[in-house]
Amino acid sequence: QILILDFGSQYTQLIARRVRELNVYCEIHPYNNIPVISPDVKGVILSGSPSSVREDGAPNMHLAAFRQKLPLLGVCYGAQLLAHTSGGEVQPSSIREYGRAKLGTVDAGSPLMRGIDQHSQVWMSHGDTITSIPESFHIIASTDSVRVAAFQVEGEETYGIQFHPEVTHSLQGKELLKNFVVDICGCSQDWDPESFVESTVAQLQEKLGDDKVVLGLSGGVDSSVAAMLIHRAIGKNLYCVFVDNGLLRKDEFEDVLASYESLGLNVKGVDSKEQFYTALAGLTDPEAKRKAIGKTFIDVFDHEAHQIEGVAWLGQGTIYPDVIESVSVKGPSATIKSHHNVGGLPDFMKLKVVEPLNTLFKDEVRAVGRTLGLPEAILGRHPFPGPGLAIRILGDVTPEKVDILQQVDALFINGLNRDGLYDKVWQAGAMLLPVQSVGVMGDERTYERVVALRAVTSVDGMTADWAHLPYEFLANVSNDIINRVKGVNRVVYDISSKPPATIEWE
Ligand code: XMP
Repeated sequence: QILILDFGSQYTQLIARRVRELNVYCEIHPYNNIPVISPDVKGVILSGSPSSVREDGAPNMHLAAFRQKLPLLGVCYGAQLLAHTSGGEVQPSSIREYGRAKLGTVDAGSPLMRGIDQHSQVWMSHGDTITSIPESFHIIASTDSVRVAAFQVEGEETYGIQFHPEVTHSLQGKELLKNFVVDICGCSQDWDPESFVESTVAQLQEKLGDDKVVLGLSGGVDSSVAAMLIHRAIGKNLYCVFVDNGLLRKDEFEDVLASYESLGLNVKGVDSKEQFYTALAGLTDPEAKRKAIGKTFIDVFDHEAHQIEGVAWLGQGTIYPDVIESVSVKGPSATIKSHHNVGGLPDFMKLKVVEPLNTLFKDEVRAVGRTLGLPEAILGRHPFPGPGLAIRILGDVTPEKVDILQQVDALFINGLNRDGLYDKVWQAGAMLLPVQSVGVMGDERTYERVVALRAVTSVDGMTADWAHLPYEFLANVSNDIINRVKGVNRVVYDISSKPPATIEWE
């Protein structure tokens, strides 16, 4: 495997993604909290960073632990750190280099550069540049404005590159990473969903033995795949709980429960709608609504867990980005919305936690789910927020409003499916606005509700663009909604991107 040391770059996760795409297992760890190096680690990558090696207190570490013991590749800041700590010089660039650049000369004799074309396009993003290097450092690539675009240290398997091979705009970045990971480090490319399932099931059996596990299913991809994996390992000793909080999509509870049952999962559906509506009654503040829902869920789940005699473990569908985010070197970013799932359940449950997906990225979770036979209807499902429709009903939540919104949402989502647009957007849904507007139906004046449709394209939900859905489609859906949903006389489409807007309205 490959060890990636994170100095806080926004691209660190991308490095890991690219290495995994080469079917090589890798892990990210913060530079200041490195685990004991296992014999499986075959090489180390140092990430970029928003810091400058010239600053006091810049992230630094003793590279002696790896250098000359394992192959080492410094990317951007990582390369500058290698140069800086070996007697080279790093200076501010006269212009901040950001964007595409072309490699002018490439030393094809260097193992890192094998197969990389002269003039290959790379992606630069740096404010500092390496201005001088020690004698033992050989330049293996340059661009017009960056003399030391890549270097190799004589007699070592130590390399540095100023550009970002992990970004897709570096057109041969993946080949370069392959040169490092496969040829230089000697990693075998045998990490795939099947081998993951096989080894994880064996580990789960070892860890759990005859113990019982309780797991909360949400209908989403992560909890479903986690359940299937644990089920494969321990069968009926996995007790799944699927709570109807009354805030799900139309018919979702019944449909998803039925598909879980047909997959052979030991699942209990719990109708707690009233409990949630009571907890939400009169609340209008989004964070207050989230807290009430979170607390009610814990109450319901705790009650259910107590019905399972001798249960010892809590299964969770935590995935790798959640884990990395919570150990980030940068410290937590400001809480915009309180939706962090890591460590979501309180201590009083006194259960040990088992999280079989906590080393996987989302697309890998899907691939594992496919291997385990989960239906595409679950795997390809759009993300849906834990507090559900409650944060799409602006203002207070009532069962009547939920009913209206469920009908609107179903017409929108069914329309997307019918017109082959569902898989083209990352997430879609409808918001019920706390305003009424005047309309005319037949000869009658109406004064009814307004709904907003929202569909976005995104890669990870961190940034998003409003989806440019065809006008014809929007016209049909709007017509459908106004004609069929009693109480709604106006439909608007949200054309805000994130940032500065967010995906949900609350
Ligand atoms: P925002 O609105 O922050 O949403 O742009 C980004 C992604 O997070 C989802 N979201 C939530 N998920 N609990 C969740 O489990 C929440 O409270 C919550 N709020 C937003 C949102 O649906 C989108 O996928």
